[in-house]
Amino acid sequence: MSIPSQYDVVIVGAGVVGATLGATFGRQGRKVLLVERDWTEPDRIVGELLQPGGVRALEKLGLRYCLEGIDSINVVGYSIFYHGDNVSIPYASDPNVPGKTLEGRSFHHGRFVANLREAAKNSANVTVLEATVNEIISDKSTSRVLGVRCTNKKTELSEFYYGALTVVADGTFSKFRRDYISTPVQIRSHFVGIVLKDAIMPSPSHGHVILGNHPPILVYQIGTHETRMLVDVQGKLPSASNGDLKRRLEDVVTASLPACLLPSFKAALATERLRSMPNSYLPPSANDTHGLLLLGDSYNMRHPLTGGGMTVGLNDVLLISQLLSPSRVPSFDDTNLVVAKLNEFYWKRKNLSTVINILAQALYSLFAADDSRLRTLQNGCFRYFQRGGIYVSEPIGLLSGILPVPFILISHFFNVALYSIYGLFKDASGSQYLAVTWESVCVFWKACEVVLPVMWSEWR
Ligand SMILES: Cc1cc2nc3c(=O)[nH]c(=O)nc-3n(C[C@H](O)[C@H](O)[C@H](O)COP(=O)(O)OP(=O)(O)OC[C@H]3O[C@@H](n4cnc5c(N)ncnc54)[C@H](O)[C@@H]3O)c2cc1C
Ligand SMILES: *[C@@H]1O[C@H](CO)[C@@H](O)[C@H](O)[C@H]1NC(C)=O
Ligand SMILES: *[C@@H]1O[C@H](CO)[C@@H](O)[C@H](O)[C@H]1NC(C)=O
Ligand SMILES: *[C@@H]1O[C@H](CO)[C@@H](O)[C@H](O)[C@H]1NC(C)=O
Ligand SMILES: *[C@@H]1O[C@H](CO)[C@@H](O)[C@H](O)[C@H]1NC(C)=O
Repeated sequence: MSIPSQYDVVIVGAGVVGATLGATFGRQGRKVLLVERDWTEPDRIVGELLQPGGVRALEKLGLRYCLEGIDSINVVGYSIFYHGDNVSIPYASDPNVPGKTLEGRSFHHGRFVANLREAAKNSANVTVLEATVNEIISDKSTSRVLGVRCTNKKTELSEFYYGALTVVADGTFSKFRRDYISTPVQIRSHFVGIVLKDAIMPSPSHGHVILGNHPPILVYQIGTHETRMLVDVQGKLPSASNGDLKRRLEDVVTASLPACLLPSFKAALATERLRSMPNSYLPPSANDTHGLLLLGDSYNMRHPLTGGGMTVGLNDVLLISQLLSPSRVPSFDDTNLVVAKLNEFYWKRKNLSTVINILAQALYSLFAADDSRLRTLQNGCFRYFQRGGIYVSEPIGLLSGILPVPFILISHFFNVALYSIYGLFKDASGSQYLAVTWESVCVFWKACEVVLPVMWSEWR
């Protein structure tokens, strides 16, 4: 069945994923309509650190230049702070440039998105439209998606646009995903964000993860003068208006922040606005509705602790651009062929997405440890990283999106569990062995409770 279409593809949302996909399809000669409700530069606390695996995807898409001219910061690895101790975890070395590590980048989210949008606009084949999409239109009898109904921002009129393929990339609060995805979004916690001015970084050019008897805190520079701090808060978020949230931050953060960050943190707390975002988990799911593709946060989310969202999204765009390239799929009107390719996409993306998603969820459980067994695993994990060598190089490869091998992730995870148990025995004396043996069983059980449900959600 062939449906006459105004566009080859209608994309809903020009965020990180929608704008990148628009630019890419446009360059491939597709006739693209990119619909975004607000084209002004976004100002958000999300998507500010791009892992090397994401930088590499951008490079392959010919869009790496979008990281330039935005006062972005080179990131060469992570530093983890744990009860006054610390361990540094460098990214892998760049196979193409001897002596140099692979590069991540951190930046103001909005500036990066503005560059990606500019890249899309610069493609002669992309039409941009400022409008809010209200409805995904489908054929009543076949359920095939035909396009969108939206409200034009200028005219405030309802307009209809048709595409052979409609891509929904409307982000974390997606209005449309619930019509096609039955899996519920789980909210584990919130990140509260604040910007520090001219902070003195304990480890410049690193992402900082600060652990303690509290959920994790992230600190990384996003510009020459600005440093982002994200504080994880579990349970109901304290009120910002009556100052409760500020007090909570003051208590939690001041107690475990490396000393050099304290002055800028205190200054920021006195003057800066606190902003928050939910930290969501949504495993990927299959839906073969013809004419439709969900992508980015509307399709798949993981805890932002490991900064993996954009890396998954950009690698998805890369894979889609290969699977749906004009040489493989001459016309998107060939619905059956498109569906077959999207089914292939569902499986081919899994190596990378499961690694990043499982790691984010599992590491968050350990780093936010709220019971004694999780604390044993947290401690074991930190000591594991302190061993160096392969005990850090492979985990950071997994985290940064350059080692998309699920088996390696699972083996490190259980090695951490065993190493934690070894720690219990190492510190025990004769009379304690029975109790420690029982504790070990419980710790191992806990590790399984952390990782098996996520593995199951991801591999279905
Ligand atoms: C606190 C936090 C921190 C994070 N930090 C990182 C990080 O450091 N590194 C990382 O890689 N990832 C991070 N992420 C995840 C990352 O932000 C997302 O994965 C990424 O932004 C997803 O891109 P997207 O294009 O799917 O959605 P978005 O970037 O949210 O874009 C969606 C777009 O759709 C538009 N839109 C929505 N509805 C409509 C509509 N009805 N009509 C028209 N337009 C519409 C919106 O205006 C927006 O422009 C973080 C997430 C959170 C919550
Ligand atoms: C637009 O599409 C044509 C093919 O139809 C392609 O040759 C050209 O490179 C595209 N232009 C841009 C700027 O992407
Ligand atoms: C896909 O979405 C359609 C349309 O909402 C829905 O009827 C169908 O059950 C979904 N399929 C799956 C496998 O969830
Ligand atoms: C990290 O730990 C080392 C010693 O293990 C110490 O010399 C260094 O100052 C610490 N770095 C920071 C930023 O605390
Ligand atoms: C996924 O990883 C496995 C194991 O490393 C590999 O055999 C397989 O080819 C990979 N699949 C894809 C689609 O890359």
